[in-house]
Amino acid sequence: MLGNKSINENNHLEIAGCDVVELAQTMGTPLYVYDEELLRFNMQEYEEAFRENYPHFSLAYAGKAFLCSALCSIIEEKNWWLDVVSGGEYYLASSADFPVEKIIFHGNNKTQEERHLVLRGGVGRWVVDNEVELNFLLEEASSYASYKIPLFFRLTPGVDPHTHQYITTGKIDSKFGFPLGEAEKAILKAIQSEDLEVWGLHCHIGSQIDHIEPFLKAAEVMLQFMADFRKKHGFVFRELDLGGGLGVPYTDEERDRFPPSRLYVQAISEKVKEMCGELSYPLPRLYLEPGRSVVNTAGSTIYQVGSVKEIPGVKKYVAVDGGMTDNPRPILYGAKYQAHVGNRVVGEQEKVSVVGKCCESGDVLIEEMELSSPRPGDILVVEATGAYNYSMASNYNLIPRPGVVFLRERKPELVVRPESWSDLVRRDIVPVD
Ligand SMILES: Cc1ncc(COP(=O)(O)O)c(C=O)c1O
Repeated sequence: MLGNKSINENNHLEIAGCDVVELAQTMGTPLYVYDEELLRFNMQEYEEAFRENYPHFSLAYAGKAFLCSALCSIIEEKNWWLDVVSGGEYYLASSADFPVEKIIFHGNNKTQEERHLVLRGGVGRWVVDNEVELNFLLEEASSYASYKIPLFFRLTPGVDPHTHQYITTGKIDSKFGFPLGEAEKAILKAIQSEDLEVWGLHCHIGSQIDHIEPFLKAAEVMLQFMADFRKKHGFVFRELDLGGGLGVPYTDEERDRFPPSRLYVQAISEKVKEMCGELSYPLPRLYLEPGRSVVNTAGSTIYQVGSVKEIPGVKKYVAVDGGMTDNPRPILYGAKYQAHVGNRVVGEQEKVSVVGKCCESGDVLIEEMELSSPRPGDILVVEATGAYNYSMASNYNLIPRPGVVFLRERKPELVVRPESWSDLVRRDIVPVD
């Protein structure tokens, strides 16, 4: 079992001290639940590691992993920054009164509407991804903002993190960021502009990365670029943002595969200090942008089993009341998950395939797993669904998206209500005859 889970006297699964059967009965299924204490603990691990290892740092939570207003409050309370990658994420954060001066605005194709929203509303750091975007900024900044736009430049350091190709972003062949050789001219253009202020550089090499070396390699490349740039142009970057990407286990089998966040922060901090010493470069303020490693293990999804179909000698299919609409990661990346029968955790084990209710044969949540003989009406809990589930959910087959519950002090609190069928037709324009 991953995270803060246990089995109670009724043989029910408890998450953060809450019985999942009661949660299913009172809040409905499917349901995303988050152990708030664990989420906060994960944040604290990052904070402490930085405090112990590096003099000036900022932690920015990557909202794309999972974002809602209640989480914005926690991030603000913890004094973290927030990464957003779209006008929608920015809008959510500002609606939740998250301080805009702590927002980092990303995106490889920021639309005009998004650019104007953020320019008008204010931003902590704007990450320029490409030349076209820089030219737009140079044209638009003074008309839409009365302040100098604080910039990072996103570079592709040419590091292969050996993760899934869909979540690799730092290789030369990437849709994100400036190739190293192209960045110099663009950065100089921004430095010379009255409307922009260059604070630093950014890179993000990928996600679900299971070893530290690629992060260190990226830091090395970035710092070398900074030192070369200073030598040529006399300009010192005050800040360096090395993105997110630390991986986390999704199953018990993977428990020891990933370095703990403390070790990751420590190794990066050491590397940056060492390189800065060698290059006689002033220590930049260091930013990291973890997403998955903050929320994934803290989240689980509670489903109810509907139909169970056995094909003798072939397979037993256990279908739940959700699927690829609330968790598209298996169909998208071949991601592996594990589950428990929440109302009968310990029981006679049986090999089954957990599938969703969508009209796609590929709608498989868990290809094969031993579970305690799931039956119709049982509660099924899939673990480690905290990242890139809610935020990637869809309404395919017009299935409403589940609500979100935070578990605090052994009590559930609904923080996002489930979608209703009427939500599904809210935007339809009904023809009038
Ligand atoms: C720019 C940027 N920063 C941070 C992250 C967060 O990555 P992760 O959730 O793997 O920590 C991402 C995700 O891909 C990203 O694109």
